[in-house]
Amino acid sequence: MIILERVSRIFRSRGEAIRAVDDVSLEIGEGQVMSLVGESGSGKTTTGKMIAGLVTPSSGRVLFEGRDIRTLDGAARARYRRAVQIIHQDPYACLNPVRTVGDTLAAPLQLYGLADGRSRNAGIGELLERVELTPASAFVDKYPHQLSGGQRQRVAVARALSVQPKFLVADEAVSMIDVSLRISLLNLLLKLRQETGVAFLFITHDLALARHFGWDGRIAVMYLGRVVDVGPTRTVIEDPHHPYTRALLAAVPEADPHITRTKPRLRLRSQDPPSLLHLPSGCAFHPRCPWAESGLCDVIRPELTHVRAQEVACHVAVREGALPDLAATT
Ligand SMILES: Nc1ncnc2c1ncn2[C@@H]1O[C@H](COP(=O)(O)OP(=O)(O)OP(=O)(O)O)[C@@H](O)[C@H]1O
Ligand SMILES: [Mg+2]
Repeated sequence: MIILERVSRIFRSRGEAIRAVDDVSLEIGEGQVMSLVGESGSGKTTTGKMIAGLVTPSSGRVLFEGRDIRTLDGAARARYRRAVQIIHQDPYACLNPVRTVGDTLAAPLQLYGLADGRSRNAGIGELLERVELTPASAFVDKYPHQLSGGQRQRVAVARALSVQPKFLVADEAVSMIDVSLRISLLNLLLKLRQETGVAFLFITHDLALARHFGWDGRIAVMYLGRVVDVGPTRTVIEDPHHPYTRALLAAVPEADPHITRTKPRLRLRSQDPPSLLHLPSGCAFHPRCPWAESGLCDVIRPELTHVRAQEVACHVAVREGALPDLAATT
């Protein structure tokens, strides 16, 4: 349904060019889940916004049902706009502070002619019940500042659902709220997935969340704007091929019930990612990578290459078919 074809996005700020997303190709079919994981600044939000049409690619194409979204007009554009909805990282920033919950939900219903008059109130009530803000009457007249972070995020979810979308971009939808409420919001999203069959781009920096939400889907791991590891969720987590994915897994707390750690923790050579303004030569991960080989990884940029069920951009993993044990390489 959604295809990214070699999409890049360059931002220019203070005379410098930042390649926030670099040559990313992804495909998400109807009802499927793709989790997009990576550290802060790896280009996840920019990728999600390009899918939702909020950021224009500098090169490459975003296809919706086979058509370049830039070429859509009239009814086709309206259909795409309605079909693809985004739930933003910060619900406070994206809800209008002077609009009640009821008004926020009425607007899209009205825009798309989905309900009017009495049926609109019923529609709003039903939406609030679907996101478990009950009784609905206790929420319709509230303003965003009268709600908790978790409740605000549920309103944002209800607004996205109001137009019966086919595709949701959930950008760190559960990350900004209290840990104790995170799982219940995540389970709500899972329930909505089952009920509606909506497809997801599930953006998170937390592999454990990606596993819980998208266990039956795929994971793409981004590093400094590029996808470096992609494949079925289960295999990416149980048998990560890219050293960076191994490092992300190592960062999941030991007690996390969703991740069984089969490999020892990975110690990176440097904790901080390099700046997008001064990208390392060759493989951008090589200065942090314990497997890096000089003359290879610092010179040639690896392309995504099939290794069993995954695609991985790592010279060593591709050559060896798996990352060798570190003890054997040092
Ligand atoms: N409008 C913009 N103008 C200039 N630079 C931008 C803009 N939007 C994003 N960037 C830069 O692009 C890079 C990728 O940003 P992006 O928000 O896509 O990353 P992210 O993976 O979502 O990070 P986070 O986990 O912190 O949300 C960052 O270096 C960011 O500063
Ligand atoms: Mg982001």
